Amino acid sequence: MRTEAEEQARVASEAGEPARAAEWEAALRAAVSDGTVWRRGEPLAQRTTLRVGGPADWYVEPVSEAELAALVRVCRAKAIPWWVLGRGSNVVVRDGGVRGVVVCLAHPTFGQIAVAGERLECGAGVRLKRVAVEARRHGVGGLEFLEGIPGSVGGALRMNAGAMGRSLFDVVERVRCLDAEGNLQEHPAESLGAQYRSCAFFRTHVALSAVLRGCREAPETIRARMEGYSRRRWATQPQQPSAGCMFKNPAAVAAGRLIEELGLKGVRVGGARVSEVHGNFVVTEGLATAADVLALVETVRARVREARGIELESEVEVIGEDLPARGCARAGGRGRGVG
Ligand code: EPU
Repeated sequence: MRTEAEEQARVASEAGEPARAAEWEAALRAAVSDGTVWRRGEPLAQRTTLRVGGPADWYVEPVSEAELAALVRVCRAKAIPWWVLGRGSNVVVRDGGVRGVVVCLAHPTFGQIAVAGERLECGAGVRLKRVAVEARRHGVGGLEFLEGIPGSVGGALRMNAGAMGRSLFDVVERVRCLDAEGNLQEHPAESLGAQYRSCAFFRTHVALSAVLRGCREAPETIRARMEGYSRRRWATQPQQPSAGCMFKNPAAVAAGRLIEELGLKGVRVGGARVSEVHGNFVVTEGLATAADVLALVETVRARVREARGIELESEVEVIGEDLPARGCARAGGRGRGVG
């Protein structure tokens, strides 16, 4: 366990120059109130479903939209790298951690749901499972597929998350967000250019809330459908730590099937393994590192490329820096974006 002073020194040296790190920290802290959660050197492994990766230089849970906007403005003015973490279910944090600020919309201010008829306005920090349960409670059908996706509304918008043949943008009507200057905007969903498992708009914008639209249905009908989805998921997906599906499905064949056909289930690098239950899941155990996960992903991609000539595309975002190689200068770029 590092002391506060040791942690400050580590962040300062890793941010480049101690003076600049101190200036950044002072500017960031001035943008937020005491109610905002603020941590230096926060381990991110515990905040991702893969359970690997290093710390964030600064980890912040803003208390309000205004403070989030102020943070975004400071980051822009001082060119501080920043990134928004959702529930960490579709991300690999490299072992050297993330330089700059990781923002998480975990404060209750981003966790509200307002139901009006067949529409639910959901804060970016709301879990998708809660959206599905609230929709059922109010007799709003069509959102059951969200039940088993282990993400938040904000992260799911960024990834256009999906399950059971449906994607979040199938049910989004409009979105409130901040742009990279911290200005509030509102957009109809169809203007955001969402695609299968991605919405590039949210690389530069932070989602604040979204209006989802379902249709009137009896809660019992909704419950039955949701239970069916849940049974199917338990039967076909592994329970160990993972980031969900690792690869987008290529047009020709589902990635999980392809990986199974090539005999890659069970292939392991360190503490990371291709799941025996579903070939498109990489699961981790015990002492796994992000380097294990990423090396395994590359092994699978190479074998699929050689055997079938198919280029598997990751659906999981990779952020942060590798640990420095012993005796070498620090490597790696600065990540910026949201997800
Ligand atoms: N299959 C195999 N072997 C496997 C896994 C799958 O042969 O190891 C076959 C299945 O039998 C099926 C086909 O591949 O014929 C597709 O499998 P599945 O129904 O499990 O769906 P998927 O395409 O692999 C997609 C989403 C999942 C979502 C499920 C269920 C993608 C990349 N994945 O998986 O989303 O939960 O459907 O709706 O689109 C995620 O995005 O992280 C994710 C988990």
